[in-house]
Amino acid sequence: MNKIAAIIGGGVIGGGWAARFLLNGWDVRVFDPDPEAERKIGEVLDNARRSLPGLSDVPLPPEGALSFHEEIGDAVDSAIWIQESVPERLDLKLKVYQSLQEACDPEAIIGSSTSGFKPSELQEGALRPEQIVVTHPFNPVYLLPLIELVPTDKNAPDLIERAKELLTSVGFFPLHVKKEIDAHIADRFLEAVWREALWLVKDGIATTEEIDEAIRMGFGIRWAQMGLFETYRVAGGEAGMRHFMAQFGPALKWPWTKLMDVPEFTDELVDMIADQSDAQSGMHSIRELERIRDNNLVGMMRALKAQNYGAGAVLNQHDAALKPGALPTLDQADLSQPILTLSRAVPLDWTDYNGHMNEAKYLEAFAAATDRFMEIIGCDMEYIATGGSYFTAENHIRYMQETHAGSRIECRTQMLLGQGKKLHVFHSMYEGETLLATGESFLLHVSLESRRPSPPSPEIEAAMARIAEAQAGLPYPEGAGAAIRRPA
Ligand SMILES: NC(=O)c1ccc[n+]([C@@H]2O[C@H](COP(=O)([O-])OP(=O)(O)OC[C@H]3O[C@@H](n4cnc5c(N)ncnc54)[C@H](O)[C@@H]3O)[C@@H](O)[C@H]2O)c1
Repeated sequence: MNKIAAIIGGGVIGGGWAARFLLNGWDVRVFDPDPEAERKIGEVLDNARRSLPGLSDVPLPPEGALSFHEEIGDAVDSAIWIQESVPERLDLKLKVYQSLQEACDPEAIIGSSTSGFKPSELQEGALRPEQIVVTHPFNPVYLLPLIELVPTDKNAPDLIERAKELLTSVGFFPLHVKKEIDAHIADRFLEAVWREALWLVKDGIATTEEIDEAIRMGFGIRWAQMGLFETYRVAGGEAGMRHFMAQFGPALKWPWTKLMDVPEFTDELVDMIADQSDAQSGMHSIRELERIRDNNLVGMMRALKAQNYGAGAVLNQHDAALKPGALPTLDQADLSQPILTLSRAVPLDWTDYNGHMNEAKYLEAFAAATDRFMEIIGCDMEYIATGGSYFTAENHIRYMQETHAGSRIECRTQMLLGQGKKLHVFHSMYEGETLLATGESFLLHVSLESRRPSPPSPEIEAAMARIAEAQAGLPYPEGAGAAIRRPA
């Protein structure tokens, strides 16, 4: 199979399609009369190269070749997938199909990115209507998996299957929309939310920001992982979907919305939805679904936390409020003992296929303990902003007991050496009194400007000297200086 895609219209959406195909090893041939098209696609491609390949845990195929063509016929010649993403005007789209169908392979699939038009409207008067389907993507096309694939009965089942296979092969999730309708499925849904939002703003009920908070701090994250119906099924509790419907059905009669044209809430509709929901989610108990939901929410919210954005920013603020007092400072700690440098519960997303904490997460926990130790001796964010910091040169971890999601773990840190630019620490990780793991780290103080070792501030030297003196009576920890022994 030749892997050549033609991109007709290389704006926001066409550029995203081009990137998706290229990064999945396809050659991409672009036709767009805009003289800026090459620059614009180049910029989309830069962003896609930054984000898409790392989303996979395996390497993507080598990137395909990108070319720009002055004639539409040259672009579509020999392409097996032709993606039309020209502006949303029916007359323009029909004209484009006319010229490209004169030149393209009759076996090629022509997908339209149209957000609103039905495939039958796009096929009207075409040379070969059976070649044209709607393949509606979501921005950014190189990251989001959904493609609404909307055919008509003019498209052969074989073409629909081929379209699904090709889309899947570049990482999309093709959703076969069985009956055509203006704006397909997703945009109808978004349109309802959009109209309601316009009313809320116009009536002075909420600002645009308040509306966005109402989405992203709550149900938006829930929707992202389970959608609408499975979320409501869980909300119905053990009684499930029927119970949920019975509870909220009457609301259809109340003016909870400006969209007052509602379907009749008949037994037939309740049965249809409850049956479909059973088929969709009935294999899981409600408790299982709750656990799946919670795992997903924790994973997504912790990802948002790393970006300090939306619900993740709220988590960070909450942590910052909890932090003072959670761990001792230099003056509060009993310096004659190993110092408490980490105290936390093991998050759900730290667990791996063996059902316990993943080995890499021990390093994450020890790295947090090291960060805290640095803070204690005065190498905090304020100090780092002045141009000095510690870089880790060596780590050694010993795994001794299993650790599970939800376990409360603590790290206590003994300083083995803290002098000049050298810092050598030994962390012991406990759950209660059980020693779970040890992590030994050797760090060097560096100048962030030269990126070379440099002496720390006199304040840090003094703090290290205080700890060295106080901990001088501690025995050298068992396991310190260990390495994996060479087999006899
Ligand atoms: N923007 C979105 O979020 C979004 C999402 C899904 C689908 N869509 C659909 O994608 C399509 C394109 O939207 P967009 O947002 O990328 O628009 P856009 O304006 O960013 O891009 C359209 C591109 O088509 C080019 N063009 C104009 N006439 C052309 C022709 N005759 N032949 C080839 N190229 C031509 C333009 O120069 C431009 O680069 C529309 O049908 C839209 O409904 C948009």
